[in-house]
Amino acid sequence: MLQNIHFASADIIVELGPGNGAITKFILRKLHPTATLICFEINDNFYKTLIKIEHSQLIVIKASAENLNEELRKIGVSEVNHIISSLPLTIIPEKITDMILIQSYQLLKQNGTYTQYQYSLFYHKKLKVF
Ligand SMILES: C[S@@+](CC[C@H](N)C(=O)[O-])C[C@H]1O[C@@H](n2cnc3c(N)ncnc32)[C@H](O)[C@@H]1O
Repeated sequence: MLQNIHFASADIIVELGPGNGAITKFILRKLHPTATLICFEINDNFYKTLIKIEHSQLIVIKASAENLNEELRKIGVSEVNHIISSLPLTIIPEKITDMILIQSYQLLKQNGTYTQYQYSLFYHKKLKVF
């Protein structure tokens, strides 16, 4: 899932929908020592679990991914290298999904990547358009 991510050159990586942090912990192990991982999670219980990771390179934001730009602006971030999402796109309203994908692609630096992993191929066609 993370094979397209060049960890050595990435300053800022965003994870959307980290859940209980299974992939988050893996990303933190691969992260360059000066890089930052910013996670967006809306579920209160998952948020509480994530903040317990207490890693100096991890920022956990309890907000919806649809507010990506606004929340990143608050912490002085205007562009990112990679976005890794496991948001359940098939159950999020299409209008919201479009907002998330448009903001994500606008935030990406040159050669940045958006990685989506999910348990359904429903959105595969749309992701290829963006
Ligand atoms: C399928 S789970 C994936 C969890 C974890 N990344 C994994 O692979 O085990 C999707 C996660 O996205 C979160 N989520 C759903 N909608 C969201 C949104 N609009 N913004 C941020 N997180 C969201 C859910 O709370 C859940 O933790």
